[in-house]
Amino acid sequence: MNPYRKDFPILDAAVKGRPLVYLDNAATMQMPKQVMEAMMNQQSCFHSNVHRGIHSLSELSTRRMEEAREHIAGFIGAESASEIIFTSGTTAGINMAARSFIDTFLQPGEEIISTQMEHHSNYLPWRETSPEKQGVFLSCPIDRNGDLDMDAFSSLLSPRTLIVAVTYVSNVTGAVNPVKEIIKKAHIAGAAVLLDCAQAMRHEKIDVRDLDCDFCVFSGHKIGGPTGTGILYGKSEMLELMKPVLYGGGTVREVTDRVTAYEDVPYRFEAGTPNITGIIGLDAAVSYLENTGIENISETEKELLSLTEEILAASDRVNILGKPKERAGAISFTVDGLGSFDVAKLLDTQGIAVRSGHHCAMPLHQAYGIDGSVRISPAFYNTPEEIGQFETTMKRILGMQCTMHN
Ligand code: ALA
Repeated sequence: MNPYRKDFPILDAAVKGRPLVYLDNAATMQMPKQVMEAMMNQQSCFHSNVHRGIHSLSELSTRRMEEAREHIAGFIGAESASEIIFTSGTTAGINMAARSFIDTFLQPGEEIISTQMEHHSNYLPWRETSPEKQGVFLSCPIDRNGDLDMDAFSSLLSPRTLIVAVTYVSNVTGAVNPVKEIIKKAHIAGAAVLLDCAQAMRHEKIDVRDLDCDFCVFSGHKIGGPTGTGILYGKSEMLELMKPVLYGGGTVREVTDRVTAYEDVPYRFEAGTPNITGIIGLDAAVSYLENTGIENISETEKELLSLTEEILAASDRVNILGKPKERAGAISFTVDGLGSFDVAKLLDTQGIAVRSGHHCAMPLHQAYGIDGSVRISPAFYNTPEEIGQFETTMKRILGMQCTMHN
């Protein structure tokens, strides 16, 4: 029996009268009860605002939020808690980083490199914002296996490159990028690097100092935390120079009718009342990952993913997107003669939840000449039996009589 399932109440749910088989974890991972309990405790015992009151509840709230910041800083190997900015998710974090970085540093003619395999959230904020300062947006292509074309990447790098915005793990193919090499090459060229770790957090032990990335971004809900939470990590020396993006309460030390004196980092980037309950939940999700062990999570998910790949590869009507050197978390495919929505809908009739469509990665799908795909993304609480149910249903969908997998 999978030892983790008991922590996830939703896994006992039924969908369309069948036991839920949840294989859409790249979109949102389910929440363990430890996280629910932590948020319930915050709501029941110390729900109040932070950094704004001297009464006991507010002080407790402030302390718990700052402890969460310390904890998350330690979890990703940041040098200091002040390098951790609470956001509402990866998209918000990248938008904030892009807006502030471009406003602060970009000079006309300087270049930003993103990639063809990015989620739109690590593509559009750079492409849409850079022209305002006469910046140039470049996209590094993928190769025929779905890996990043590292020769193309090297040739795009130049003294004009200001920043490289790249994902650690593709949210579509699961391709794992050689991020250490990318960061090293970018730094030699004098460029900074933002790493989108939304999909990587359950699969790789992220150590921002060891990676030496300048920014790292991720979401709470992809690691068992609540939606509406996330982290933007930035190296202190970078954040210290950067302009705030949102203005308002919590960001300033003094305001007169003429002068604004900003708070220190990270507070100058956290305008308004933060998602305190969510942050307490995110903190508990990080504890859950630590207690479970990223290696255990990653190993179980890799086994389930290999099993899924084997099943899919056995059908000649199924086309798997890419054959990257390393795959983590997700695999996507198309079926000859059937649209991705049809396949997902048919799987849903049997209680099997998968994602279909372009997965917010249209440039990647365009590279494959398709509009969309079906994505399977198992988590460590899934079982080989559930992948077996996926196989059985796929066989029915494909109308195949023969055994797809032994
Ligand atoms: N970014 C999420 C996904 O890939 C929503 O599904």
